[in-house]
Parts: sequence; structure tokens; C-alpha cells
Amino acid sequence: MIRIAPSILASDFSKLGEEVKKVVVAGADMIHIDVMDGHFVPNITIGPPVVKSLRKVTDAVFDVHLMIENPDKYVDSFIDAGADIISVHVESDYHLNRTLNRIKKSGKKTAVALNPSTPLSSLEWVMEDVDMILIMTVNPGFGGQKFIGSMVEKVRQLKKIIDGRGLKIDIEVDGGIDLSNIYAITEAGANVIVAGSTVYNAADTEQIIRQLKEKAFQG
Ligand code: DX5
Ligand code: ZN
Repeated sequence: MIRIAPSILASDFSKLGEEVKKVVVAGADMIHIDVMDGHFVPNITIGPPVVKSLRKVTDAVFDVHLMIENPDKYVDSFIDAGADIISVHVESDYHLNRTLNRIKKSGKKTAVALNPSTPLSSLEWVMEDVDMILIMTVNPGFGGQKFIGSMVEKVRQLKKIIDGRGLKIDIEVDGGIDLSNIYAITEAGANVIVAGSTVYNAADTEQIIRQLKEKAFQG
């Protein structure tokens, strides 16, 4: 089952609620919300109050991607604001196990994210505690960047490790995904696909989400 998660980073922030509803109606499986703090990544986006406001306009699953320093300090605020899945970067969390337990205890889904240069070995002792692993296919910070092709092999290796350990963990990919590369990454094992500019720059939202799903299956 492939799920498409449009990233609202590429949407028109002056009418965010409408932009979220638009992709939900068009067939999005979840909403990817990019939280950036200007420290972990060189950009600043949105925080808990915005997530809380958006929670009022839809029941869709909120997939909150924290690209921030010290995420442990902020996960509770995002949980209270209405996040359903929270992704924490392994590079920015001193106490990842503690953070994941905190998220789990709240009943929300846990995810860890890896920058392109971060090895899969960093996951070794957290795999049993996560529902999803996010493999960044660009360097985080901005939408509209070019897909890093070597991440296909990283996803393939990750899928092998997950299956080898008999675990059920979703593999999410994020950055530069479009109709030309989606099949390579799903074929390698990814099943949750973030797409920002590809979805929000398309003239027909319903059509692009349908096309992404079709391509994800058959190339
Ligand atoms: C990058 C963000 C992505 C970004 C994806 O730091 O984590 O979610 O919005 O946007 P596109 O699909 O345009 O690369
Ligand atoms: Zn993201």
C-alpha cells in the first residue's frame, strides 16, 4: 500500500487551511508538515499554533516532520496541537530513546528521520521503537530540491534490514520526488511518499496524486 503525503511547505501559506483541504479531497493519504527552526536547518517555518489551527479544518493524518534542535523539548507541544505521527531526526536528539518513549506513551506514532549522509547503523538500537523511518532524499531545509539518487540504494538496504528483523516499519521518503523517480524508490521499498512541489505546483491536484500512485506501482 503506497501512501502519498503532500508537504504543505510548497503550498500557499496565505490560505493554509484551504490548501490542506484541497489535497485531502484530491486523495492525499496524510498531510506532511515541515517544522524548521533555523538552527538544525537553515530555514524557519511553522510551529505548534499553526498545527493546532489546521487540526480544526481536517481529520486527515498529520505527519509532523521535526527539523529542529532539541526535539525532546517540543514533542509534547506538537502532540497537544494534534500531530498523529512525529518524526524526529537522529542527528538532533541527544536522547532519542526517551523522545520515542514520550511519543509512544501519548498513543501517537513514532518515526525517526535520517539525513542523506547519516548511516543506517544509527537506527540499530531504535528500530524496535519506531512505526516509521524517514529517509531524506534531499538535504532538509527547503522544498523543490533535486532528488539524491543514491538514496534508492539506502532505502533498499533499509528494507532488507527491516524484513530481516521481522519488523513492520513504514519507510517514508522525503524530497525531490516526482513522476520520474517515484517508481525507483517504491520498488526499493518505500511506501510513504512525501511530495511537496510536485503536488502543489500541479494544475490538477487530483490528477497528480492519482498519477503518483499509478507510477509508484508500475513505473
Ligand atoms: C525538506 C522537507 C520536505 C520538502 C519536500 O526539508 O522536509 O518535506 O517540503 O518538498 P519537495 O517535494 O518539493 O522536495
Ligand atoms: Zn519533510
